Amino acid sequence: MSWSPSSWRAFPIKQQPEYKDKEALKEIEQQLKNFPPLIFAGEARNLKADLAKAGRGEAFIIQGGDCAESFAAFNADTIKNLFKLILQMSVVVAYSSGKPVVKIGRLAGQFAKPRSSDFEEKNGEKLPSYRGDIINDIAFSAEAREPDPYRMVRAYYQSAATMNLLRAFSRGGLANLNEVHRWNLDFIKTHPIGQKYEEISCQIDKTMQFLKAAGLTPENTPQLKQTTVYTSHEALLLNYEEALTRVDSLSNDYYNTSAHMLWIGDRTRDLDGAHLEYFRGIKNPIGCKVGPTMQADELVELISALNPDNEEGKLNLIVRMGADKIDELFPPLLKAVKDAGKNVVWTIDPMHGNVEKSSTGFKTRDFDNILSEVRSFFKIHQENGTVAAGVHLEMTGENVTECTGSASCSITADDLSSRYHTQCDPRLNANQALELAFMISENF
Ligand code: PEP
Ligand code: CO
Repeated sequence: MSWSPSSWRAFPIKQQPEYKDKEALKEIEQQLKNFPPLIFAGEARNLKADLAKAGRGEAFIIQGGDCAESFAAFNADTIKNLFKLILQMSVVVAYSSGKPVVKIGRLAGQFAKPRSSDFEEKNGEKLPSYRGDIINDIAFSAEAREPDPYRMVRAYYQSAATMNLLRAFSRGGLANLNEVHRWNLDFIKTHPIGQKYEEISCQIDKTMQFLKAAGLTPENTPQLKQTTVYTSHEALLLNYEEALTRVDSLSNDYYNTSAHMLWIGDRTRDLDGAHLEYFRGIKNPIGCKVGPTMQADELVELISALNPDNEEGKLNLIVRMGADKIDELFPPLLKAVKDAGKNVVWTIDPMHGNVEKSSTGFKTRDFDNILSEVRSFFKIHQENGTVAAGVHLEMTGENVTECTGSASCSITADDLSSRYHTQCDPRLNANQALELAFMISENF
């Protein structure tokens, strides 16, 4: 079957906007096709090699960021704080496991959202749902909810600026291991979890002094002062993804150049759907969410379609069952994939199966359920002799109150209203994310 960046258009598709002005849409798509790529194919190949290591248990993946990036909350500090948090978590995990951490942000393109309902009703008024800033606006008015193709251009520019800052932070000195103390975010320094992090930082200081005595410094050893944070998002809005799909001149293969890694959501992974069709043609490493309705034979078929050459590091399966379901639903899937001899990289998203409504009316997630699903994931892999390769989280470096619980900053249902800022789903705040990293570090 022949494939092209636009062959998905002949397949049934879910979760898409209906643009009224088709001419404007075409013009925008054409504009995007002329824009420079945001990543280089060689970087995507590096990530594939890193994911292959994680799949073999030689590295650990930390993937995290907003549920949905927003135009309104776009600023340098939130990007910097997320970057620092990812580094902090990586230090905690790498220090205890002795393994490199593959760092992947859910950012620089994480704008399009699948929704459980096409409509939202408020005070008797029914409007189309918000689908992410790349599509429409979150304000509750008919005008705001109208899909606007120009938003794709804005999302592209914001992604480019975000990517630029990430690259600057990664190479320009902030990632220097002599800066570990500076990664500790102000509002967590005083919490027990921030202090626990300080203890590791002091150990790293000593190690750096020792390395210096042995002649290794950040000046002569770039690994001590640089890092790589890859980018990723759910490739939901295929008009945008198609426009950024380009032929790599080195390999002659097609790569999606809007991010290093793209994933398919749990609601759009139909075997005969447009998203599967699009994803089977790109050479980037890709992910696919695996939720509670996934059947074992369906999963094996899906893997064959997405990774026909059984390449290591190509396909990341992101399990998101829910704390109360994972023990029952995950082992049969794991066994089927193992028996079929498929190379996949298993990670856990302990966020999307654990959504609940708080007694105070907020969409939230309880930290205990998040921890519990991660623990189950590790335990099931241990029992099956397979590899728990990483975590996929919705988190922010900001001091928000969106998820309840955690020992370090216990948030109650009543606290949620004080700093509930998310554009979509509730995120772990920096305290909670770091606490989770410490829990993960006990599993090695
Ligand atoms: C998400 O990761 O933001 C998401 C919508 O997840 P899922 O497809 O697993 O529901
Ligand atoms: Co989400």
